[in-house]
Amino acid sequence: MTRRIDIVEVGPRDGLQNDPSDLTTSQKLEFIERLAECGVRRMEAGSFVSPKAVPKMADSDDVFAGVDRKTGVRHIALAMNETGVRRAIEAEADEINFVLVAGEGFGRRNQGMSPQESADKLAACAPIVHEANIPLSATIAVAFGDPFDGDIRDGVVGGLAAQAQRAGVAEVGIADTIGVADPWLVRARIEEVRMYAPDVYLRAHFHDTRGTGLANVFAAIEAEVDSIDASCGGIGGCPFAPGATGNVATEDVVYMLERAGFETGIDLSKLISVSKWLEGVLGHSVPSALLKAGSFPSA
Ligand code: COA
Ligand code: ZN
Repeated sequence: MTRRIDIVEVGPRDGLQNDPSDLTTSQKLEFIERLAECGVRRMEAGSFVSPKAVPKMADSDDVFAGVDRKTGVRHIALAMNETGVRRAIEAEADEINFVLVAGEGFGRRNQGMSPQESADKLAACAPIVHEANIPLSATIAVAFGDPFDGDIRDGVVGGLAAQAQRAGVAEVGIADTIGVADPWLVRARIEEVRMYAPDVYLRAHFHDTRGTGLANVFAAIEAEVDSIDASCGGIGGCPFAPGATGNVATEDVVYMLERAGFETGIDLSKLISVSKWLEGVLGHSVPSALLKAGSFPSA
């Protein structure tokens, strides 16, 4: 098992968007810089949505203006409409991640769109991003369950992935926004996406809300996903999903993978130090297991 797994750090976006703390722009920039020093190469750095809807991401323009462009990190911007995509291009995002929704109930509340409307919006936004020559990915939110509508029917996620592929999206993420997936469903969804959208680079995004987070990462890797989203400390959650909790902690994912012989390019002991630092600036503890237990064997 020497395969390399591409880890996308989402702490500065998914992590902070729902955290009770209110980090200043310079604290966010310090977080991003510290993560870059750990060897993180792709990172969601902010979100170009309505500042009324997600006040914690209102300073994303300033965050992108302040990031160090010499670290080799690709800073990813989240967007879900034309205004967001244009703001992300203006901010010189290195990649744009567009949000599709698999469920109507969540889609309406999160971004005022049904699943098909989100796919239509992507089709309208993709040419703008391609014109700017910026890599475009699409993440399918609530791909394993919608907090308002329940289970997602087979074929819905695959159908959205196929539309993303047709829109020229090179990477598709499947997101368990509310942490309801189980490892067997993860495999089934990945196989579904591979069938409907065989050409996309595939990424998986898990929240550890019901204790299945790392098991789902394992299932995704076994099903040969290309990339995993994770957030330093395990912070995060969506403000439009009741009871949402954090992503799988990046250090827990890195530990599990490196212990099994995979390569992530991330320095685990440095990452644990960032998690410790993060607890200090957030003013509360974070869910990470590695922060509590330390690595093994100890350095
Ligand atoms: N950035 C900043 N402001 C935006 C915007 C964007 N990308 N898109 C719309 N707006 C503003 C409009 O200017 C308008 O402002 P006003 O009320 O001052 O006139 C207002 O938002 C409504 O615009 P509208 O085009 O009708 O959008 P909407 O109300 O359908 O909202 C979203 C669409 C996507 C902007 C909004 O639902 C949103 O920001 N959701 C956030 C979802 C999110 O980030 N979830 C967590 C991550 S998945
Ligand atoms: Zn998430």
